[in-house]
Amino acid sequence: MDTSNDLVTLKVNDREYSRAVAGSITLLDFLREELNLTGTKRGCDLGECGCCTVLIDGRPMLACLMLAADVQDRVITTIEGLADGPALHPVQQAMVEEGAIQCGFCTPAMALSAAALLWDNPDPDPAAIKRCISGTICRCTGYTKIEAAVRRAARSVQEAGDD
Ligand code: FES
Ligand code: FES
Repeated sequence: MDTSNDLVTLKVNDREYSRAVAGSITLLDFLREELNLTGTKRGCDLGECGCCTVLIDGRPMLACLMLAADVQDRVITTIEGLADGPALHPVQQAMVEEGAIQCGFCTPAMALSAAALLWDNPDPDPAAIKRCISGTICRCTGYTKIEAAVRRAARSVQEAGDD
């Protein structure tokens, strides 16, 4: 077992954090246990459920499969950093409006994955939306409302772009 402590410095949600932690600490544990950013959920801890998804340099990645030390100097966004101050991100707003949040356990991962999709492609087709959310398991729903929320968010992003 690794008992040595390394200084880990991470930029999360536009803020830099440094902590002396075991070199083996995962990004998921770093976020939840060290930074108390518990919006990133622990499901399987095995890379299968997708609930621990965060954005690294704008790309969805599984925090349970990454070491915190391996993502130093990269830009990490968790669900706590997706909104713009009090203004929800369009994906978050659309999830509320479509009733796409049930227990909410998968919601942070779904919202971050959808936000990343819309940054790349503000007009995704249904297949792209399905692919985007397919990496996260939702135990509550048949995904229909989540897909509707991503479509609604896409419309809202496009309308904002047209202004
Ligand atoms: S907790 Fe990371 S994929 Fe399930
Ligand atoms: S809303 Fe409960 S797991 Fe998706």
